[in-house]
Amino acid sequence: MVLDGKNVVITGATSGIGTEAAIEIARMNPCLVLPVRNMGKGEQVKKQIIAESGNPSVYLMKCDLASFDSIRDFAREYKKRFSGLHLLINNAGIWEYKRGETEDGIERTFGVNHLGPFLLTNLLLDEIRGGAPARIINVSSEAHRYTVMKFNDPEGRKKFSSFKAYAQSKLANILFTRHLAQMLMDDDVTVNCMHPGFVATHLFDKIAPFLVTVLGLFMKTPRQGAETIVYLALSPEIDGNTGGYYVNKKIKKPSRTALDNKAARKLWELSCDYTGVFTAMPDLSYDSHKVKP
Ligand SMILES: NC(=O)c1ccc[n+]([C@@H]2O[C@H](COP(=O)([O-])OP(=O)(O)OC[C@H]3O[C@@H](n4cnc5c(N)ncnc54)[C@H](OP(=O)(O)O)[C@@H]3O)[C@@H](O)[C@H]2O)c1
Repeated sequence: MVLDGKNVVITGATSGIGTEAAIEIARMNPCLVLPVRNMGKGEQVKKQIIAESGNPSVYLMKCDLASFDSIRDFAREYKKRFSGLHLLINNAGIWEYKRGETEDGIERTFGVNHLGPFLLTNLLLDEIRGGAPARIINVSSEAHRYTVMKFNDPEGRKKFSSFKAYAQSKLANILFTRHLAQMLMDDDVTVNCMHPGFVATHLFDKIAPFLVTVLGLFMKTPRQGAETIVYLALSPEIDGNTGGYYVNKKIKKPSRTALDNKAARKLWELSCDYTGVFTAMPDLSYDSHKVKP
């Protein structure tokens, strides 16, 4: 996709995979908008992105994905300052050892990794449709294979496991992708998700602080981790291909649960309840894999 002069939003650009994806994408001369929770850290990364890409059109805006109010403020401000959105990359994510809660009292992993991007994307949908042809990329993980959606206890209130909470949130990213791809099928907006690999970033700081030091040599660098995001953002091969899960720039079949249409619909309805988003629920056929031969 040609991004010259187009608008791009990337979450989680202050660290790891997101920073590297932002640098590569900034080289294509878009107007790059970065929603960040820490403006001080954001300023440093903004300087780095401008220096490495040579693109001065990088804008920081406050957005904490652990707060529905903050997400709503961001979306309102975005609509005032920019017109249309051509590429949205939902990359920000956390993995926490202890159960915590967002500003809205929701288990943090489910809140930040799924409900935050769900709300953000829905609030920006008019801009995305207005920017068509447009792309949405959701950063998931192979961890999704290790669980199912716990619809009776999505926030781990009865029983919390750090790994299961993370895995469930990444499964939610795929189910969200699947449903949204179907919803936007006639709008010239593709929605795909991906796994970046096992990447040496700060993601593991709270669960296994020594992991990167011990296993760093066997892990991808953040730049390598960003490659599939950049591919999904820029490659003409993605034109018209929507609803897919990609690993190493290739489509890959996700878990059976991630292909469960009933679960995708149920999660969408649940997420609407949590966030107050209203969307019509047409009878979707979920034939969203339009992969070129
Ligand atoms: N690393 C891996 O091996 C791996 C594997 C599979 C999938 N992933 C996925 O890749 C994505 C990027 O992670 P990473 O590995 O690059 O980790 P990272 O270095 O820890 O980066 C995470 C990013 O998310 C941002 N973030 C966290 N909480 C936020 C909040 N409440 N509001 C706004 N932004 C928030 C962070 O902001 P701050 O800078 O302010 O903390 C940071 O920019 C995640 O979705 C992760 O699940 C990573």
